[in-house]
Parts: sequence; C-alpha cells; structure tokens
Amino acid sequence: MYNKDKTVALQTITQEFLKDKSDQLADENHLDQLKQALRFHEYRYYVLSDPLIADGEYDQLYKLLERTEQARPEWVTKDSPTQRVAKEFTGNFVTVQHLVPMLSLDNSYNEADLKDFDRKARQLSKRDQITYCVEPKFDGGSISLIYENDLLVRGATRGNGVAGDDVTANVKQIRSLPLSARFSDYGLQQVEIRGEVLMNKNNFKKYNDSIVEKGLAPLANPRNAAAGALRIKDASEVKRRNLEAFVYHISDFTLLPGKALPAALTSHDGALQLLWDLGFRSPVKEMRVFNHIDTVIDYCLKFEEERDNLPYEIDGMVIKVNDFELQDQLGMTSHHPRWAMAFKFKARQGTSKLLHVEFQVGRTGSITPVAKIEPVPIGGVTVSSISLFNEDVIKEKDLMIGDTVLVERAGDVIPYIVKPLSELRSGAEQPISFPQNCPICDSTLFKEEGEAAWRCVNIECPAQVVERMVHYVSKDALDIRGLGEANIKKFFELGLLKDIPGIYKLDYEAISQLEGFGAKSIDNLKQAIALSKKQPLHRLIFALGIRFVGETTAKVLAQRVGHLFELKGLTQEELQSLEDIGPKVAGSIVHFFTNDDNIKMLTELESLGVEMKNENKTTHGSGELAGVTFLFTGTLPTLKRSEAEAMAEERGAKILSGVSAKLNYLVVGEDAGSKLDKAKKLNTVKIITEADFLQMLH
Ligand code: IVH
Repeated sequence: MYNKDKTVALQTITQEFLKDKSDQLADENHLDQLKQALRFHEYRYYVLSDPLIADGEYDQLYKLLERTEQARPEWVTKDSPTQRVAKEFTGNFVTVQHLVPMLSLDNSYNEADLKDFDRKARQLSKRDQITYCVEPKFDGGSISLIYENDLLVRGATRGNGVAGDDVTANVKQIRSLPLSARFSDYGLQQVEIRGEVLMNKNNFKKYNDSIVEKGLAPLANPRNAAAGALRIKDASEVKRRNLEAFVYHISDFTLLPGKALPAALTSHDGALQLLWDLGFRSPVKEMRVFNHIDTVIDYCLKFEEERDNLPYEIDGMVIKVNDFELQDQLGMTSHHPRWAMAFKFKARQGTSKLLHVEFQVGRTGSITPVAKIEPVPIGGVTVSSISLFNEDVIKEKDLMIGDTVLVERAGDVIPYIVKPLSELRSGAEQPISFPQNCPICDSTLFKEEGEAAWRCVNIECPAQVVERMVHYVSKDALDIRGLGEANIKKFFELGLLKDIPGIYKLDYEAISQLEGFGAKSIDNLKQAIALSKKQPLHRLIFALGIRFVGETTAKVLAQRVGHLFELKGLTQEELQSLEDIGPKVAGSIVHFFTNDDNIKMLTELESLGVEMKNENKTTHGSGELAGVTFLFTGTLPTLKRSEAEAMAEERGAKILSGVSAKLNYLVVGEDAGSKLDKAKKLNTVKIITEADFLQMLH
C-alpha cells in the first residue's frame, strides 16, 4: 500500500503540517496533501496497528482539515477523513438487496470432517490435489460493502442473506475501512466485498467497564457488541465502540470498459492481497496456502492454540479452495458454497446448575447478584461464580434457583449465563428473591429512578468501606501490591485498618505478629505503600471511587487541575464543559467534593504525604517519547517495573499490557518469559535492556 519512499514522503509532509500553525490552508493542492497524510496515518493506526504519530498530533492535523473545509466547503470531497461524520439517524433502516446472496458456511468440527470435505471436493472436481487457503473465522457481525468508482457507496448487514439493512453511516465509523480505494488501478468499476465487523477484546473490556460504571448490565461478548453496533441509529455511539473490520471475500465485481480481469482475481489469496494492497485490513498475514488437507488441519489446530493471544475473537478457521475457476466449478448448495468450509473451534459453553444467588455490596453500595453454579470447566477454566449484574438481568433471563443454565466464557471475557434451559425444568425450581435490606449492614435498600441497581446508602456499611479500600489499592488505581483484597479484609476484621488514610498509618508491629508476614513481606508492603504516594494524580482521582468517575474521566479531571483541591472549586457547569463529562458525572463529582467527610479524608491523605499536585499538567501528550509504546517484562536490574513505567509515561510514552503489533519497545529483564518469545516472533518489536531504555531518556 505505502512503500518506503511513500512512507518517508508522507512522514515529511506530516512534519511540515505539524509545524503549520496557520488557521487554515490556502490552496486545494495543499489540502489534498493533508488529506493524504491523514489517510496514511489512519491506515498506520487502524490497519497496521503501528502508528507513526501521537494521537494528539493526528488531532491537530484533523482540526486543520476541519477548519479549512469549514472556510472552503467547495473543497470537501466524499472521501475526506471528515466525511466519517457521526450523524444521528431517525426512521428505519432501508432494506437493500445484496448483489450476490450472503451465504453461510458449512461447519466442521474435527479432522475427519475436514478430510471428508477434501475428499468430496476432489471427487467433484476430478482432481488429485487441491490448493486451499486457510484463514481465521472472525467472530463478529458480517457486512457487505460496495465500492463504486473507487468510493465506498454502501454498507449493509447480512439480513436474511438476500437483503439486509443499509448501514452505510455506521460502516463509515469503522476506520480500518477506507472511504475510497483505487480499485480503478485494477480495472475494476464496482466491487462488492464481504467482511466481519469486530470489537477487539481490549476495547470491549473498556466499553463494558464504562457501562458497568453507569450501573448498567454489560454487553455479553464482543460479537454482540460489534454486530449490535451496526444497527444502532446513533452513529456517534457506533464511533464510541471503536469497531474494526477484516475483509475476506470479493463477492462480485464489474470491469471498467475495455479492461481485462486483473491477474490477482484468479485466486483467493490473490484477492486478499489485492484488498490489502488497496489499504484494507484483509487477513494476508494470518492466511496460509496449502496443497494437502493434512497441512490444512495442522494449521487449524495450531491456530486454535493461539486463540487467546489474539486481540480479537475468532471462533474457528475457514478453509477455501484457492483457485476461483475451481470454486466456480464446485458451485454451491442452496445454503453454502461447496468450495469453503468452516472449522469450528471447541465451544466455550457448558451447562451447569444454578445453586443459589449471593448478593454482594460494591464500593458505591450497589448490590450485585452473583450466581453460584456447580463448578463447570469451560475452555480450560473452572467456572463456579457468575455475576448477574442487577435485578433486571435476572428478570430478563427468567432465571430460577435449580435451573440448568447455559454458560459461556469467551477468551478474556468474564463468564456469563446465556440462558436457562427452561425445557429441563422439573417444577421444583424456586424464584430468585432480591433482598430488601443490605446483606451486610441490614439497612433498607434503595433504587433511584432510572437506575438498574439497588443500593445500600449507608456510607459506613462495612462492605462499602472495605470495597472502597480494595478499589483504592487496585492495579489501575494506586496499585499497592501486597495489600490486596484478602489482606484488606483481614486487617479490617482485626481492627488494624478502618479507612483509606489508615493505609498510611498501619501498625507494622501488630502486622508482624500475624501469620505470613515476615520481615521481607512487610518491607515490600511498606515500599509499595510509599510508592503509592507518588502516583500520578489521575490514578489518585480514580482511586477515590467517585461514582461514575472511571479511568478516562479521572484523566480528564487530572489534566484540568494543578492540584486535586482545585476540583473542589469547579462548578457543575465548569465540569460539564470538560470532555465526556455529562450532568450525571458532573453532579457526582460536585457531590463528592462538597461532602465534609471526603474533604477531611483528602486533607488527611495529603498530610500523610500523598502527592496531590499534578506534575503532568503541561507535559501530557507531548514529551520526547510521545506516541512511543513500551512494555517491561522480567526483573529489571535496578528499576522497579512501576518506576520504569512511570519514567516512560512522564515523557509521553504509552505502556501496553501485552505484546502486539502496536508495541515499539520491549524492555527485558531477567526471566523475561513468554512476552520475549512472542516479541521475537513478531520481529517488529525492538527488544532492549534497561540500560538501553535509560539511554533513551537522556
Ligand atoms: S467466507 C461465501 N471467510 O462466517 C463465503 N466468512 O457462517 C463467504 N466469517 O456469514 C464467507 N470469518 O460472517 C468467510 N474468513 C472468513 C470469515 C467468514 C468469519 C463469517 C461470515 C459468514 C459466516 C459463515
């Protein structure tokens, strides 16, 4: 798509635009260059997962484009990056006919099925040997796209296979799909493409966390999150879901007058390569071509082992006859092509019995019902406890104690109950009754208008006090290792810890008398607690557990102030003027900072040495390592991992949680393990030592 020369040229143009401080561009050619640069960076980010500029720099260029287009609307083109505008939609989706019906695939579950498929295909085509192309079976929502004269003109859902919903506006929110692509270079006028819309595991988790934070039931799995998103009528909500797409099939095309069939369009791997060369995310890196079904099977089984390491969900592999002529010869049944077969991975579902429901009290007092089920192994993990989120979920699913339930656990996703198998009911099942009083402190529960969760409003409720502390020390908050949930509960029960400031006043003498607390673990604990005082302000804000204030909002708030107490002075309106903060969140923040007990606690924390100044207020988003990604693994010779991470972050770098194509540097210490192996395989990751890292900081 972009060779080295082009990449260098676009990078040079980008740097020039970044220096351009003018309000708008004065000529159309220049604007075209800016659009090219932005498209290039979208491709680097969304298709290659390997950005070359910082997010803030992209925004700066995008705004320059927006301002110029506002001043010169006649310069707006259909494929301008601004044309992914997220409009709200009223009325119903229009039904549109697919050019070629969207068939489903036949399924296979084991080696024998695949051998059978191969045998039949060879018999039918009268060949001894068939070349197959094997690629992942993406687990999302299928889409059909039409490009006409190089422009994306339509995106549609599968619908009934013959006709689906026109969801073009939503599809335009998927930034791995180009708004224009030079199909004409291959003599193609109109092309219909098939693909899968996905939400990656990481974004799914973040999205669900934000829903749960609002007291709502999270989405079941990334597949539902992606497939459901396509039919949302508010395109800005679609945008928020950060969808991605893989394309894997050209179902139809017409040639420009006088043009011949391009050589690439004689085989499946050729078609995938063509799509990749045009800037689409097709599975060229994941696909393999084989001449024998045995090697096909090996690859499928090998890929299944990698399933959990992928950033997105797949539920199998797809085996396709590679040669298009042979595909045509094999044809299709009324349901599926005879030239393709899905190989389905082992199901991540199981059935179990719902034994009883426990009601847990969260840090904000919300009551979460948790289903206790007979332990059942699913995908290598034994599941015995499953959150039911709130009363509405229990009602919607019509769950009863004693029910046989279908349980699903996808990849990194927490397990959930799909449904009760009501046909198996014996009549002895009991309804689940939601308590009216807090199971811990017995105070009456309340439910606010429009909210799903019942809440214990006794701020002193021991369960809430403990959960607030557990949240305060958690990994994404102040990350006090050694003071996890179990120790907090133990110290609380023993009267050694009663509130958050108490963490900084622990009686180590008394703790050293407890079993399991030797000098070494006490030292570690002291050190972790001391380090927590110096964490960046956004972590402290998140750690306070203010209702509706998640990590993202905490970051927005931290950026706004030089000291935590400045938040006390902000009005509801001022808070609402900040990014992503609506009336509900703003109200909750004001409520927190007008509560005398909270202010007393914060004052005490400050006097105990907890840093409340914002060191990063001015450096955020710039810094010499802006846009660079790091991951630290193994034991570093001199630095603690958290220190090294903080040093990188201070300079604008981003810390990733796993090895992926997005990772620039893996800093390795002793006993580096699987992350190192994985990085070596990727060969796009630079593997460096602590010394190299320190060198980069000077
Ligand atoms: S090919 C005519 N390739 O699986 C064949 N499908 O049950 C067109 N899917 O509806 C489909 N990954 O949504 C193909 N690499 C892949 C796929 C894939 C996922 C989905 C697709 C289809 C379903 C088939």
